[in-house]
Amino acid sequence: MRDKGITRRALLVGVGAAGGAGAMYAAMGALGLAPGEQRAEFAPPQASDFRLRGASAAKVVVLGAGVAGLTCAYELGKAGYHCTVIEARDRVGGRSLTVRGGDTVSELNGATQTAEFGEGVYFNAGPGRIAQWMVALDYCRELGVPIETFVNNNASAYIYNQGMAAPVRARTARADLYGYIAELLAKATDAGALDRRLTPDDKERLLEFLRRFGDIGPRNTYEGSQRRGFQVYPAVGEGTPLPGPGPLAQVLSSGVGRAVTVDFGFEQAMPMFQPVGGMDAIVRALADAVGDDRLRLGTRVTKITSLADGVEVEVRGPGGAEVVRAAYCIAALPPHLLAKIPGSLPADVRAALATPRPVATGKIGLEYGRRWWELEDRIYGGITETDLDITHIWYPSYGYHGTRGLVVGYYNTEEHAAAYGAMTHRDRLRRALTQGKKIHGEKYRTGVLSSVSVAWERQPHIEGGWVRWPSFTGAFELLQRPAGRVYFAGDWLTHLIAWQAGAMESARRVVTDLHKRALTETT
Ligand code: ALA
Repeated sequence: MRDKGITRRALLVGVGAAGGAGAMYAAMGALGLAPGEQRAEFAPPQASDFRLRGASAAKVVVLGAGVAGLTCAYELGKAGYHCTVIEARDRVGGRSLTVRGGDTVSELNGATQTAEFGEGVYFNAGPGRIAQWMVALDYCRELGVPIETFVNNNASAYIYNQGMAAPVRARTARADLYGYIAELLAKATDAGALDRRLTPDDKERLLEFLRRFGDIGPRNTYEGSQRRGFQVYPAVGEGTPLPGPGPLAQVLSSGVGRAVTVDFGFEQAMPMFQPVGGMDAIVRALADAVGDDRLRLGTRVTKITSLADGVEVEVRGPGGAEVVRAAYCIAALPPHLLAKIPGSLPADVRAALATPRPVATGKIGLEYGRRWWELEDRIYGGITETDLDITHIWYPSYGYHGTRGLVVGYYNTEEHAAAYGAMTHRDRLRRALTQGKKIHGEKYRTGVLSSVSVAWERQPHIEGGWVRWPSFTGAFELLQRPAGRVYFAGDWLTHLIAWQAGAMESARRVVTDLHKRALTETT
């Protein structure tokens, strides 16, 4: 293989001699010879790209100051593009919304809540967690946003499913489920049921693993394990075991399999992270870097026209109607809203934008004056899983041992979210407390100081928690390409829907494509 007269091998030998194995390995990665980075390398546009051609950066109008729009403007800004970001809401961030005391949250039917949270208490009403491999962490590093651990998985949190006499700790549920599964498999292995699949050596190795996996005894029977936890934990005394375990049928019918759902997910496994002080630290840092003078808040897009040599976007803001002209447009609005904006987008693009279905999603933040989940339940962060319509209870991964604290009392989607969304805030609160009380008892209801709920399908200019595509072909693929001079960006154009990282990856892709084109069109 030759590349400009030098073989790859010769290049690697040279790199290896000059820079050692590390440099050689990096070079191999760059040449596609070694397992490289998890994502395609992103090279932000640079001002020198234009200077080399004696050209200047183009004007770009970005629609939407959510994570995708802000990331586009931020990255294009590195090369000196003149970006104007149009945002219909009166704050940046889109769904990356952190609610603090004094903030107001309005819904489409006109209902407005004012948060009464105390100092230092915040509610991440949208995104709340970041996995280690996600590009969102790279932006935190680059923008100087401090991060801390988000406890996504806590063995001390509960599992509660309807029909269970009482909630069980995730550690107990896991111990019993793994224990019984190990018993079944070990006994089947011993009885020869798997002989066609396993050699005698395989069987021995499998049995050894199962004994560890399920903490089963020498007779391959699960009879409980200290992994289940204790009624009184060991100290000077040896502790008091929990009653149980119940029989296998009871463990299976209680649906405690929920305890394992977050352990293994590639986007959910621990450790996860959050910005210190609230998720909106990321969008605020992006907006600061873009600059206030480039952000037009409270300004709606009323028409998008792609012309041969530019775009015209009609907007209506605090100063009235206006036409913003630019060389390119990046539309980073939710697709279902974009589909309704008049203009020159072709019929197939419009139909593609209308294809993904918005998903109802809701959360409620419950502020308590006493951190009873730490004091009484000994739960420090993490999530309780339930088949009640509240679906999850999140305990805060910040402010440990403080006086106040905020619990997310439901985080639900689809029909459960739509049902809560259709209620007044008071009724959402009342129902969330009635449900949560089944897990935590009376203190859950009596100790609430204040609360705020968000139904994302009712949020103005957003109208959905995220979207669901019928397939990732056809419409999804069409919108990866620009319609004339209009590009599309958002988490909804990735396989990371409902993650900020999706919005950022999509933004990087559009910025790369647009910049490549701008360089050819300006020379
Ligand atoms: N990204 C969303 C979450 O973390 C779906 O729950």
